[in-house]
This record gives sequence, structure tokens and C-alpha cells, in this order.
Amino acid sequence: MNIGFEFIKYSLNAKGRQGIHSPFVYNLMDKVLSRPISSEIKHRQKALFAELRSDNTSIDFEEFGAGSKKLGKQRTVKQIFTTNSTHKKYGDLLIRIMHSYQPMSVLELGTSLGTGTLQMHWGNPLAKITSIEGCKETFAVAKKNILNHSLNDQIHTKNCTFQDYFNEPITELFDLVFIDGHHDGNSLIEYVKKLEKHTHNDTIFILDDIRWNNDMFSAWNKLSSDHQYHLTIDFFKMGLLIRQPNKQKEHFTLRKSV
Ligand SMILES: C[S@@+](CC[C@H](N)C(=O)[O-])C[C@H]1O[C@@H](n2cnc3c(N)ncnc32)[C@H](O)[C@@H]1O
Repeated sequence: MNIGFEFIKYSLNAKGRQGIHSPFVYNLMDKVLSRPISSEIKHRQKALFAELRSDNTSIDFEEFGAGSKKLGKQRTVKQIFTTNSTHKKYGDLLIRIMHSYQPMSVLELGTSLGTGTLQMHWGNPLAKITSIEGCKETFAVAKKNILNHSLNDQIHTKNCTFQDYFNEPITELFDLVFIDGHHDGNSLIEYVKKLEKHTHNDTIFILDDIRWNNDMFSAWNKLSSDHQYHLTIDFFKMGLLIRQPNKQKEHFTLRKSV
């Protein structure tokens, strides 16, 4: 995939508020994406990122899914932060979505160092967040970060593969699902389908790295053209799916800041 070319195509199609008739999407653009982020959260983001950016601890990375395009088995926390983590740009999107829609039950597939987890948590500290990470040593770093930077005990982490997680009984009904790992198109579709019975019509699915490779992009195109998902939004790196079966099928390519 030529990511530069893809970005030009996306930028030419991406809309702002004008000409949006869907009330949900208009509100998303008008209220959610422009919501100011508190100085307290900005301060927390800065502190966490500064810590990870200077952490030269080396860990033994156990690979699941399609694997990193850039890193080997031995990785420093700093390298993982630079290449695999949700940074401020898309972190702000997670925070704004959590703060605006107040989902109470959240599932994250792919904790990594816990930066996405913590940003979602700061956006809505009351939400119960379950986050799954396969790599043992990455999981240990995430646990430490979450312990040091969370505001309460609402974050529940599990060290297992996504496949193992789906083999256990899941009793929750999730209001928001963030799928950020594996990077394999068929697996992405499989996880979304498996989660159908653990989600409801207004659950927001956030899929990360939809343009990570051709395979992921083709999975995103399949999901976003699936008539089961009436509202689908392309934010370039992340894509959103919501079932909303009582609405007309609509797809939007949006700028993530207004
Ligand atoms: C891109 S990182 C997640 C980033 C994180 N969500 C954030 O916002 O900073 C993906 C993570 O998913 C984990 N992962 C990928 N496939 C997995 C699988 N099948 N089972 C468990 N963990 C997996 C990897 O070990 C990696 O740490």
C-alpha cells in the first residue's frame, strides 16, 4: 500500500461539517471532535508520553498477528511507544469519544503499553475497560503504566491471546470496542463478527490501522460496505462502525479535527 497516495485520496474526500445531514455525524463533528481536552488530561498525556519516550528498557517481544513492519524480537519500550502506540493525535479522538458518549463497558483488543487504554480511561474514568494483550513482557509494562497513571481500578487487563479471550465465556455487553492488534484482515472481520453477540445496536466499534496494509484495508472496505453497519466513518488511520439498524446506510470520510 502506498500510504502517501492513500493520504492524498483521503484528504481530497474528507469532509468537515458542511453538507452533513446525518444528525449523529453532524453532532460528532460539531460537538465531539471540537470538544476541548482539559489541561489535566493534557498534563497526564504529556507525562506518560515523556516517560515512555525515554524508556530504554529492553523487552523480549512475542509476536502475534501480522507483526511489526519495523521492529525485531528484542525491543525497547521507547521503540514500542514510537511505532505501536496510540499517540496524541488519535489519542485525542479516543478521549473525546469516551468523554462525549460515556460508554460504560469497553473492550480493547491489543493493550501494548497501555497508552490507548489510559487515554480512553481519562476520557471517562467511570467506564470499565477490559484490555487484552498477548505478549507477556509488554503486558507487564502496561500493568505498571496503568498502575501509575490510572485514576481508579476500572481498568481490567488480561494477558492472553484474542483467540483465548473469545474461547472464554464473555458475560459483558460492550458499549465501545477498540480493536488494535493482529493486523490481519480475516482476523479483523472474525473478531468483529464474534463481538456481534456481545455488543448492541449503538456500540461504537473503533478499528485501528485500517490502512496498515492492503489486507487490512480490504477488510475495512468489506466491513464498511456491510449493510449490517448502517453508519461507518473513515478517519484515515481509524475507522468507526455502528450498527444503528433503524437508520439509513451511510458512509462518511471525515477529518478527525474540525
Ligand atoms: C498496535 S499495538 C496496540 C496499541 C494500543 N492499543 C495503544 O492504543 O497504544 C497491538 C498489540 O496487540 C497485541 N496483539 C496482536 N495480536 C494479538 C493477538 N492475536 N492476541 C493477543 N495480543 C495480540 C500485540 O502484542 C501488540 O502489543
